[in-house]
Amino acid sequence: ADTLAVMLRSIILAAARSSRMEKLVATAPVSRNIVSNYVAGTRTEDALRVTRELVEGGLKVTLDYLGEDTFHTHQAEATRDEYLRLLASLRADGLTPAAEVSVKLSALGQRFDEEMSVRLAEEICAAAETSGTTVTIDMEDHTVTDTTLDAIHRLRETYPGTGAVLQSYLRRTEADCREFAAKGSRVRLCKGAYAEPESVAYQSRLDIDRSYVRCLNALMRGDGYPMLATHDPRLVEIGIDRAKWFDRGPHSFEFQMLYGIRPEEQRRLADEGYQVRVYVPYGDEWYGYLMRRMAEKPANLGLFLRSLGRK
Ligand code: FDA
Repeated sequence: ADTLAVMLRSIILAAARSSRMEKLVATAPVSRNIVSNYVAGTRTEDALRVTRELVEGGLKVTLDYLGEDTFHTHQAEATRDEYLRLLASLRADGLTPAAEVSVKLSALGQRFDEEMSVRLAEEICAAAETSGTTVTIDMEDHTVTDTTLDAIHRLRETYPGTGAVLQSYLRRTEADCREFAAKGSRVRLCKGAYAEPESVAYQSRLDIDRSYVRCLNALMRGDGYPMLATHDPRLVEIGIDRAKWFDRGPHSFEFQMLYGIRPEEQRRLADEGYQVRVYVPYGDEWYGYLMRRMAEKPANLGLFLRSLGRK
């Protein structure tokens, strides 16, 4: 069953990178319900409205303006502009520091002009600082792990609160966690959402979960600020257990989950006094994001495919 799941996942993730599939899906009468389960909406106002609701309910938020793999300067700059607008609005609405932003370097042109992507990220970090909040740099596939971590080191020289993301499916990540577990360092630990070759990544669920626990141990034992991004009930329990073991108060780490996934669990953890941050994506470019969510839970795919055929 594990082999079949791995195969299905890589087929869906291949489709996530296909522009032909994207056209098909984007022009099909996709049930808005499916997209709106996972995405706050297309406009800045939608992002602000959802953020306000979550923050009023005692949750924290990280906002993602959807987009990735940009190959045009004007598009990368437009993404920067949207983040600047968003950050100014978050501050004006009193939603910082409860809300921060998550940024993909590939949306800022990392794949064709790395220097430009770092420069644009710097401008977003500066705006976040002015607004009294922080930026976390999302992690994409393994071909950009090194350049992304290098960029984060550079950003942290001026903006030490800049968050990094490490993915437990990569074989290298346990070592990265040790390196990043230093004082002041904000690290989001997730399993990883891309199709990766066996040479660099664990393939089976069990190996990925075991690696997650080793990484979690390294981060919780260290002096940084771990951000445990997972919906996996077993890993959440282990996080709670390690916090006790390493004598960490509820404000010295946080849980993170995606908008629309296990909202009742997000509430339960917050009610128990844990910090919970919800990752809220918004914008038009929802295709890649949605397909990665489908790959995580193929049961959702049946629903999605049926909705494609519906008028
Ligand atoms: P897993 O996929 O094993 O799911 C555990 C349980 O959670 C499931 O049994 C189900 O109950 C529920 N669940 C999970 N996914 C679901 C879905 N799509 N729909 C409904 N239920 C679902 N990845 C990455 O490569 N780079 C990044 O920067 C980030 N950033 C990020 C931020 C945050 C806040 C989160 C929560 C996740 C990410 N990810 C990510 C995605 C991450 O790598 C991973 O793909 C997903 O979180 C799914 O893995 P889980 O740990 O939730 O476990």
